[in-house]
Amino acid sequence: MTDRELLDRAAEAMRRSYSPYSRFPVGAAIECADGAVFTGCNIENSALGATMCAEAAAVACAVSAGNRNFTRIAIISEGADYCYPCGGCRQILNEFAPELEVLCARGDGRYVSYRLSAFLPMPFSAQ
Ligand code: THU
Repeated sequence: MTDRELLDRAAEAMRRSYSPYSRFPVGAAIECADGAVFTGCNIENSALGATMCAEAAAVACAVSAGNRNFTRIAIISEGADYCYPCGGCRQILNEFAPELEVLCARGDGRYVSYRLSAFLPMPFSAQ
């Protein structure tokens, strides 16, 4: 799958976002080593702290389906800036794929790509 196809899957998920409080829809699509793709959108709650990020939703879908061998994730919002993963999502992604390729897109579809280790250089480990 091309970067653009993975970004399109993320954009499709973004359109299903439930974000009445922030009005900031986010979509994510995570690709697995076997080619499977799982998507997620942000799901807000009136108790704001109970909000789930798009990346966390995508990881939850993938892991629940038995797939945690991740190779690439695409993240998109409608914003003017590239949609980088929040701190908590960096940690969630690091749990499974410290060298994950992360595509961060903005509303006009342009994107940048980094390794997760660039976003989270000194991850917590309980080892
Ligand atoms: N959000 C995500 O879905 N992913 C992130 O990495 C950062 C933030 C969502 C949470 C909330 O619904 C909205 O963006 C505004 O913070």
